[in-house]
Amino acid sequence: MATVSLRQITKRYGDQTAVKNLDLDIEDKEFMVLVGASGCGKSTTLRMVAGLETITDGQLLIDGIDVTEAEPRQRDIAMVFQSYALYPHMTAYMNMAFGLMKTSSLSKDEIRSRVMEAADILNIHELLERKPKEMSGGQRQRVAIGRALVRKPKVYLFDEPLSNLDAKLRSHMRAELKRLHGELGITVIYVTHDQVEAMTLGSRIAVMADGRIQQLGKPMDVYRNPCNLFVASFIGAPEMNMLHCGFDGTGVGHPAFLSPIQVEAQHATTGHSSVLLGVRPEEINLAPVGQGNMTGRVQRIELLGPEALAELHVGEDRLIARIRVDQVPPVGTDVGLVIDKNRICLFNADSGEAINI
Ligand SMILES: Nc1ncnc2c1ncn2[C@@H]1O[C@H](COP(=O)(O)OP(=O)(O)OP(=O)(O)O)[C@@H](O)[C@H]1O
Ligand SMILES: [Mg+2]
Repeated sequence: MATVSLRQITKRYGDQTAVKNLDLDIEDKEFMVLVGASGCGKSTTLRMVAGLETITDGQLLIDGIDVTEAEPRQRDIAMVFQSYALYPHMTAYMNMAFGLMKTSSLSKDEIRSRVMEAADILNIHELLERKPKEMSGGQRQRVAIGRALVRKPKVYLFDEPLSNLDAKLRSHMRAELKRLHGELGITVIYVTHDQVEAMTLGSRIAVMADGRIQQLGKPMDVYRNPCNLFVASFIGAPEMNMLHCGFDGTGVGHPAFLSPIQVEAQHATTGHSSVLLGVRPEEINLAPVGQGNMTGRVQRIELLGPEALAELHVGEDRLIARIRVDQVPPVGTDVGLVIDKNRICLFNADSGEAINI
């Protein structure tokens, strides 16, 4: 068992507050991803869990035990850094074995068997006698992960572990991490600014901005129902389209709509007359002019291979639709656009908060 609970955790550096009243419960065997833009407080949060940073206010529990003030080595946690942080003069084997030799009471044979087990899992037997400078970035990253594995900690912390790798290797290591998590049943807290990494790896994701969690949920729930405009634009690429609409509680209207889109707000919506209608690029389908929900004019096409992005002007607004390459319309023509009303989001244009429909 390994659960981690952050209770109202705050971190201040002088008069700057990097993390603000953060509440988060990470379940046993969960892969929790903290995702957000640079400077939002992800690493600070992780480093407080690791014990590398003091906690200004609040409480940290691991398996229900208060470790707010505990030393890093009392927390039974292993951290993998973006920079790998390997010892340059040691072989991969020694990089993995060294920590255990220094801090555990395991025998030489037990340590050897742990290193071999990790080497099996990560497929790095042929690297064991090499030093870091004789390895590629991806290989170093595996050794860094191996060094965490041999400790068999309660919780694994990863801080942007893949961001120094090229795109292909990153995608490969992403799959490896996912497999590791599934096979070993480990509890992971993983920090990234990359929303694709967050979407593909997380059992749940916590989207952070300005030291706070904006939204916490399963990746697809966050993707489909972002709680505010920040989350809507941060998760998904190209980002969610926004149309400036009027809303009377049941009908969403726009100058380019053929007729208002009927929705039912779940709460009284007085004051919501000005709204933003959000729709993902892949939720927009093309139709002959005069059909669908609205008319758009094709401004630009970007071919991506099997699919294309079409930029459309809809009245004063601009939309990006992700379409099949055999459906690409000529630039400059008008097309009908169909959107599924079950797949739209509405946001209060003033506060940016989602309106439940
Ligand atoms: N030791 C420090 N002293 C003062 N301010 C700090 C310190 N460490 C971090 N900060 C500030 O705290 C805020 C959060 O930093 P943090 O490193 O947690 O961001 P991050 O989300 O990990 O960003 P990135 O994606 O760039 O790594 C930033 O504004 C940063 O400047
Ligand atoms: Mg960071």
